[in-house]
This record gives sequence, structure tokens and C-alpha cells, in this order.
Amino acid sequence: MTLSIEPTGATLGARVGGVDLARLDADALEVALEADWEAILDAFHEHALLIFGSQSLDTKAQVAFGRRFGEIEHLYGRSGAIPITNQGPDGKLLPDSTLPMQIMRGNEGWHTDSSYMPLSAKASILSAQVVPASGGGTEWADMRAAYDALAPEMRERIADLCAFHSIRRSQAKIGHQDGEGSYGFDVDPPPLRPLVKRHPVTGRPALYIGRHAYGIPGLSEAESEALLDELLDFACRPPRVYEHRWEPGDVVVWDNRCLLHRARPYDHTELRRMRHTRIAGDPRTESALEAAPC
Ligand code: OGA
Ligand code: MN
Repeated sequence: MTLSIEPTGATLGARVGGVDLARLDADALEVALEADWEAILDAFHEHALLIFGSQSLDTKAQVAFGRRFGEIEHLYGRSGAIPITNQGPDGKLLPDSTLPMQIMRGNEGWHTDSSYMPLSAKASILSAQVVPASGGGTEWADMRAAYDALAPEMRERIADLCAFHSIRRSQAKIGHQDGEGSYGFDVDPPPLRPLVKRHPVTGRPALYIGRHAYGIPGLSEAESEALLDELLDFACRPPRVYEHRWEPGDVVVWDNRCLLHRARPYDHTELRRMRHTRIAGDPRTESALEAAPC
């Protein structure tokens, strides 16, 4: 098989062909595969979103693939390949009022993974097992290209600004109250992060915003919300967005340091079963700030 990398045509994303990810695990020491891995990692840094069709990775192979990018993050008290699905443990579809459904409804807002945690995520992997007949895609937006496209005055305005990030706030905004502290990720005080993030590998600046961001120090709550809304609205537009319509077996990996993403709605009477693996950020570059320099 020959590795192929085909950009999507948007400013982000490429389809990767000619690779069997299950054979790319830590034990696969064949020289050819290692050469493929170098090319895949380069493509990841360039395109920030890689799409691999027809893979059907099992959970072990998905985690092994994730380990190539770094440490696996603990998520919802678990680590590995976590089900993101509207199916309950008893096999029945979950009612919209349940916590997993509330979290998945939250995923429909533009966000970057774990920005509300002390250490934000480096990358995420999502793979599809069962998908609805229509809807239920995933969309990504390129915050590097968004930053590049900002007017110079806006770049100057935000250069030294930070925002707090909180999932409790972002869930409350869509009407979900965390009565029992059940999101389990409340960090007090919430993480504070610059609005512009420099990519630790490529050095490219990117907007670091999304639904969890709020409360820019130095601005009133209304000014802060208006600025964050304006940036998000500007950023998440063509040619900076790409939507993937899933086929069972697809595997996608993306760079949370420079992309936002969101799930697209679907009819919840249909089954959608995905697996998610989150790769932890580097403490040197993805830790929240201890004190506001902004
Ligand atoms: C997530 C997420 C998107 C989707 O699991 O963090 O945002 O399409 N998922 O399920
Ligand atoms: Mn997510």
C-alpha cells in the first residue's frame, strides 16, 4: 500500500489513504510503517485534521494509535476509547434528559476538548461504529486560518487578552444545570487561557476560543461575550470549516491546539455509536495560566 495524503480543499484537513492504522501500533517496527508514521505526523501538523476511511480499529488499536501522539487523557473518569453514543448500557436509546445526552448536546456547540481542565487536550480521535442515516456528522474549524484572516486592529485588540474556560458555564448556557456536580470537571478557579495560542510545534498563532470561553478579565461580561461571539462567528466560516459525514469504520484525528469542532444534530431515535480517545496536552504548553497576565 502506498500512503496518500489528499487535502480537503478547505484550509484544514486531509484524507489519508494507503495505511492500515491497526498495523501502526507500538509493536509495528517495520521500516515502511515507521516512514508512514513520519509522513502522517507531518501531515497532522500541516492539516490539523486527518481522515482515515475504512479502518474498523478495535479499542486497543485505537488507543495504540492515540499513544503515538502522546499520553492518553482520563476523561469522564476513564481513559482509552470511550463510547460517545445515544445507546445506554442496557442497549436502549437514552432519553435526552440523561447526562450523556446533555454532554453530547453540548458537543454541538463549537469547542476545543478539555479547555475547561487545568491541562487542555493536545489531540482527539473519533471513530464511527454505527451512524444515523442522515445528520450526525462532525465539523471542524481552522483557528490558524481564522487568526490570519482577522483585521490587524482585531489582532492587536486581542493580543494580550485571556478568557476563563468552564464546562459548567457552557452547559448552563444551553439550559443544563450541573445540580450534583456531575460533570465532574469543575475546577476552581476555572482555567484562564490566552485568546491567541501559539502552536508548540509549528509556531503558528491560532484563536483559542469556543463555547467554554467566557469572562475576559478587564472587560465587562457583556463586552466579553460580544467579543467572543464576534470572533467565533467570524472564525467558523468557509473556507475554514470542514464537515465529515461518517461511514462506519472511519477514524479521524485532530489537533485541539488549533481547531474547534462540533457534532451535528441528528434524529435521536436513530443509533449513533462513536469511540473517542483524547490525547493529553503537554504541561509546558497546554497548562492553564496560574495568574492573569492579561
Ligand atoms: C467529543 C465530540 C463530536 C461528535 O466527543 O468531544 O466533540 O461528533 N464529539 O460526536
Ligand atoms: Mn469534543
